[in-house]
Amino acid sequence: MAKTNTLLFEMIKMLPDGMPAYQAFELISGELKKDGLPKYDLGSYTTIEMPKEAKLLIQETLGKNLINQNEYQQTTKIHQQVLKIIGNLLHIPNQEELYGSSTTGSSEAIFMALLAAKWRWNAMGRKGEPNIILCSNAHISWYKCARFLDIKIKEIALTAINTYPIKAVENALDESTIGVVAILGCTYLGYCDPIVEIDNMLSNINKVNKWDIGIHVDAAIGGFIYPFAQELKEIEWDFKLPNVKSINLSGHKYGLVYPGIGWLIFRDKQSFPKGLNVTSAYLSGESESFTVSFSRSSALIVAQQFCFMHYGIKGYGEMVENCLWNASILSEALQKTGFLDVVSMNTLPVVAFKFKEAPPFKIRAFTKLLREREWMLPQYQLSGELKAITVMRVVVRQDMSLTQITQLINDIVECYKILKDDNAG
Ligand SMILES: Cc1ncc(COP(=O)(O)O)c(C=O)c1O
Repeated sequence: MAKTNTLLFEMIKMLPDGMPAYQAFELISGELKKDGLPKYDLGSYTTIEMPKEAKLLIQETLGKNLINQNEYQQTTKIHQQVLKIIGNLLHIPNQEELYGSSTTGSSEAIFMALLAAKWRWNAMGRKGEPNIILCSNAHISWYKCARFLDIKIKEIALTAINTYPIKAVENALDESTIGVVAILGCTYLGYCDPIVEIDNMLSNINKVNKWDIGIHVDAAIGGFIYPFAQELKEIEWDFKLPNVKSINLSGHKYGLVYPGIGWLIFRDKQSFPKGLNVTSAYLSGESESFTVSFSRSSALIVAQQFCFMHYGIKGYGEMVENCLWNASILSEALQKTGFLDVVSMNTLPVVAFKFKEAPPFKIRAFTKLLREREWMLPQYQLSGELKAITVMRVVVRQDMSLTQITQLINDIVECYKILKDDNAG
C-alpha cells in the first residue's frame, strides 16, 4: 500500500506505458477514502447523495456535451424545460420571454448577472465608474466577480445581526449604480434580506431620479426553499417585485442535484442585454449560449429535470419542511446546552451559533476535537462591524437525519466538557 501511495503522489510525469485500469482505480480510490466524509461536512450546502435512477441518468449523459445543441436536441429541450419550470417558480412575467441558462454554480450565474447589469447601465449612456451596492453579508463570489469585471463595490457594513441597513443602502445609490444585491439566504447566518422593502425603496428612488436601478436576488440558498415552505411561500421576493431583474439559484444546494449546477434567470427581454448571447457555428449547426464555459456535460441538467419530475412540489415541500424541522430541533438543543447561543433564526435550515462566554480554550481546539469524531464544523468571524463575533455553523441538508443530529449534539457537549476540564484551573 505504502509503495502504491508513493507512486500516486510522486508521479509528476505521466507513466510511459500507463497502468491497468483496475490498478489506477485502486490507487486513487484508496487515497480518496482518506478524505473527510461528506455526510459529516456540516458547513457545506451541496447535495451529497441522489437516488439511483438519477445516478443512472447522470452516467448515461456525462459524455454529452451540452453546447452541441443540434446533435443533442432532446437534451437541449430538457434544458429549456428546466428553465421554464424555474421561470414559473420565480413568477417571470411572460413565459414567452424566457432568458436564462444553467451555469456551473451560482458563482458563474452571478458573474453573468453582474455583466448583464453593467451592460444595461452602459446602454443607458450613463457616465462614470459603475458600482454595485451590497451589504457585508454578501457571498465572496460577489467580490470576486466585481473585481474581474471592473465594477466598484459599495459595501454597506452590517452593524447588527438580522438588521438590514436600508437607509444606508439608499444613501449609497447614485447614477453610476448598476444594481443592488439582495440575498435570499446569507451564507454565514442564513438570514434573508427584506427584498420587498428594497424594491419599494428603489421604485421611489428610480421615479424621482429617472434611474432604472434593479435588484439581483442571490437566491443560491433560498431559491429552492421559499417556493415550497409553508411559512415562506407567500412572501414576495422574486419577479413578482417590479425591480427584480435577475435571480440566481444553486441547483446543487436545495435544488437537490450533485455539485456543479446553478441557474440564472432574467426577468424579461429588456433585462437581458443584446449581445450577451453568443452564437457558435463550428459544431453541427448553430449553438447559442451566454455562459463563461463552452463545453460542459449535460448530466446535471438532466439530473435537475429528474428531481423536478420525481419529487414534484410535494417532494420539495417535504424535504424543505423536514430540513427546517431538524434545524429547529438542533437550534433548541444547542441553546439548551447552556454554553452556546444560537444566532440564526431558522428561516432557512441553517444553524449558526457562538459560545455564550469566551471558553477557556481556543475555538479551533474545539472544532479540531470534533473533527476527530468525523464532524467538520466551520468556524469563522462575521464581516462588517460584526467582526468580533466568531460563529460556528451547521447547514441542515436533506441527508441529515434526527439520529445524526442527536449524535452531533452529544459530541458537541462531550467535546466541550473534555476541553473545559482539561483547561480548568
Ligand atoms: C449566498 C451565496 N451566493 C453565492 C454562492 C456561490 O455559489 P456556488 O457555490 O454555487 O458557486 C454561495 C455559496 O454557498 C452562497 O451561499
